[in-house]
Amino acid sequence: MTNLFSTTQKNSGPVECLGQTFPSEYARREHFTKLLAEKLKDPAFRRIEGFPQGTDEAILAMSDPPYYTACPNPFLEEFVRHYGKPYDPSVRYSREPQTIDVSVGKTDPLYQAHAYHTKVPHLAIVPSILHYTEPGDVVLDGFAGSGMTGIAAQWCGAAPAAYRHELETEWRKQGKAAPAWGARRVILNDLSPAATFIAANQNVPFDVAAFAEASKKLLKEVAAEIGWMYETLHSDGKTKGRIEYTVWSQIYACPECVGEVNFVEQALDDETKRIKDTFPCPHCGAELTKKRMERLFDSNLDPAAGRTIQTPKRRPALISYSVGKTKYEKVPDANDLSVLAKIENLALPAELPKIEIPPMHMTHERARMDYSGITHIHHFFLPRAAQALGAMWKKANACTDDRTRQALLFFVEQAIWTSSVLNRFQPQGFKQVNKYLPGVYYVPAHHCEVSPWYAIGARGDRLAKIFSSFRPSAGSAIVSTGTANRINIQSESIDYVFTDPPFGENIYYADLNFLVESWHRVTTDAKPEAIVDRFKKKKLPEYQQLMQRCFVEYYRVLKPGRWMTVVFSNSKAAVWNAIQVALQQAGFVVAEVTALDKIQGSYRQVTSTTAVNQDLVISAYKPNGGLEDRFNQHGPTADSAWDFVQTHLKQLPAVKVTSGFPQELLNIVERDPRRIYDRMASWFIRHGTMVPISTPEFLAELPVRFRETDGMVFLPEQLVEYEKARARIPQVAQAELFVSDERSAIDWLTNFLLKRPSTRSEIHPEYIPQIGSAKRKGEIIPELDQLLEDNFLQYDGTGDVPSQIHSYLSTNHKDLRNLDKSNPALVAKAKDRWYVPDPNKAHDLEKKREKTLLKEFEIYKTFTGRKIKESRLEVLRTGFRAAWASKDYATIISIANKLPDETLQEDEKLLTLYDLALTRTEDGA
Ligand SMILES: C[S@@+](CC[C@H](N)C(=O)[O-])C[C@H]1O[C@@H](n2cnc3c(N)ncnc32)[C@H](O)[C@@H]1O
Repeated sequence: MTNLFSTTQKNSGPVECLGQTFPSEYARREHFTKLLAEKLKDPAFRRIEGFPQGTDEAILAMSDPPYYTACPNPFLEEFVRHYGKPYDPSVRYSREPQTIDVSVGKTDPLYQAHAYHTKVPHLAIVPSILHYTEPGDVVLDGFAGSGMTGIAAQWCGAAPAAYRHELETEWRKQGKAAPAWGARRVILNDLSPAATFIAANQNVPFDVAAFAEASKKLLKEVAAEIGWMYETLHSDGKTKGRIEYTVWSQIYACPECVGEVNFVEQALDDETKRIKDTFPCPHCGAELTKKRMERLFDSNLDPAAGRTIQTPKRRPALISYSVGKTKYEKVPDANDLSVLAKIENLALPAELPKIEIPPMHMTHERARMDYSGITHIHHFFLPRAAQALGAMWKKANACTDDRTRQALLFFVEQAIWTSSVLNRFQPQGFKQVNKYLPGVYYVPAHHCEVSPWYAIGARGDRLAKIFSSFRPSAGSAIVSTGTANRINIQSESIDYVFTDPPFGENIYYADLNFLVESWHRVTTDAKPEAIVDRFKKKKLPEYQQLMQRCFVEYYRVLKPGRWMTVVFSNSKAAVWNAIQVALQQAGFVVAEVTALDKIQGSYRQVTSTTAVNQDLVISAYKPNGGLEDRFNQHGPTADSAWDFVQTHLKQLPAVKVTSGFPQELLNIVERDPRRIYDRMASWFIRHGTMVPISTPEFLAELPVRFRETDGMVFLPEQLVEYEKARARIPQVAQAELFVSDERSAIDWLTNFLLKRPSTRSEIHPEYIPQIGSAKRKGEIIPELDQLLEDNFLQYDGTGDVPSQIHSYLSTNHKDLRNLDKSNPALVAKAKDRWYVPDPNKAHDLEKKREKTLLKEFEIYKTFTGRKIKESRLEVLRTGFRAAWASKDYATIISIANKLPDETLQEDEKLLTLYDLALTRTEDGA
């Protein structure tokens, strides 16, 4: 196989790369590999944070420069210089936030071309890239994983006609013009070499025909060499069958008679193919369960590790084999056992990594791998699987055409997890491949050891087919391995960021990638990994800081006025808040947060900051240069607050409609006056200044400066657009509001009373079911009466009926129509109803309320106990804000230290002010 493929890159003909022309791909690669090799010798380059661990040779062998380097890519700047367009403030750019459905496209063959621990399908990303960018624009994903963002960017130029038609029809329905089709350029970065190797192989072109032939040849040659290991005698005693898989069972001791019990043999019901919960001991008949028995161990000398190791005692229990196309099962016979014994005596292949697994969360906290006899990488594989993988890896590596060699490794590496002892036997499953428990190193009691042909025999053809229809093009993607907080590209050079970072403690990427990376001999530097990991002493604050540094880098490289989409998938409110604080501190302004309602098939805007059980999509933008410049000139004045609002409103959608039929107009939660206040306040706080305008003043002046309709604030031209839509679609769907704290309780009541001014006895039965399950622990929400009293007005029957009640009653009661506001019948019906005050009255109420809240905050200040177990969030927020305004950082810190962790971590506003107060104090301000 060596000679056959040594020529593909040499014969490619002239190629252009980063502005230079080379006689062939081979020459291009040689040129840039030389540059990379020189760079690797530079100690300063190797000291870059997040630099993977591996020798120069190993890094070079994985890389295909300039398109891919298994270390920070030194050619990124050149890529941007060559393909990017410098930021030009005079170029008009305006987009509304666009949400995505992260669940589409999971059955697409491209999505399934290579498994990664978590993935966002490229088809979910394509509409966003089309929406935010133009062909040729540069997209960045700093946590790119397997590189689906890259596939999406290139797919914008390769989408088939049917897809284009479908998308354009859908967009037309939403009132959007057709997108500009055409590939975008993409920069993909990830900390993990295992991830970037997948990303590169899916985004940098390879010779598909050469690969298809080579992958077949590889398996054939491996079969010729080690096929004897997978032969078994058929029941006729003479025909040779080919083993597809062997089921290994752990051996236990019966607690009654101490006899050895082969778990699979005894517990597997041959007919139903189920593992029985209880079964009799084959020696004494005692009733057994897995839990009742004791695991037995073998002690063996491990020459590679240089010591005796204890491994769970395993015996083969079942062989599945084929003769021709027919499949059979058998219990291993003496011949099978002697073949296995022979294999056990062979030396381990050189390609098989024999390194010790460093202590990590995945082996020490979540799964005690040493209890399963795994302390070194080679312990993941039984002897035959070790020989098979070693042989395949060696063959792939022997291919002298570098690009085909990498494609072959990409193919062989797909057998690593499934060939390890992590692969479970699932008797009821159809195929026994890739049956490891995802996201964890878990060694099952019954392991299915698969043959190479069974594991990836059909994969080569499948990959060839996939990459014949999707052909990445050279120069469209560039892949780098390093930390997202240090992407070596020019400031203000990126047109759009799509990113799906790790969320808290979900998946330990570096730990999990260690298994595959050890084969490549290049492993992740896990220090900058953005993750919550008790073992590495990374808690939520460390995670937040790591994420913030990455967002700061995104902010630096993104062009002003441009967008970033962040996909969030974690159900913990604290992690959600950490992300929001990190985003805002980095300078981004959040314009929309949505969750897909899988049952309704529609998007829900997320208003509450408590636990979120769905994948969220955050659309955030980098404010344009004008706003920042004006702020730098004028500082934190009321004018700059209104300047912010003006700029922010421009970024929000004017109209949102549901996708179902009949269509409904959606209430845009980001246009809510209070939400706008929060965004404005965060922006000032992130600039380290005071918020120049109080909530009551802001809320009173907002409708004077802008236009307010249906509880939403618009710019004049946006209102025209909204009203046009309103005339066409009169139905307005209210955003779903969950009552989780005092603020959301007030919002819920506001919504309710806007639609229906009501008496207390009408409100009560509707309000009560809203609180309860969503309420946070330790949170005091005032009683309904107090909420009404503090935030709303009640008509006591004297004077004219307020217009809010009047218009409600006359719309809903025929007999009350066209009556004067002082009409006794109307007055009688209106009496005792609560209603939402108009802006001037609201101002007075708000001021009164703030005073009360601050008074209550004084009580917290004088609290002398250790922990404030129950607290009223609104009091804390108002108090923290006031303390921040008077630079009283000590108060913020001392109260924060007395609050339970969740109270602080689950509230974005408290957390931000606490973080900043800490920074200010540390800075000695
Ligand atoms: C949720 S995954 C991304 C998956 C990706 N969307 C895909 O479709 O394959 C998050 C990735 O972030 C990477 N990561 C963690 N910390 C990082 C850091 N500081 N810089 C860059 N990447 C990091 C992990 O290695 C992991 O691959």
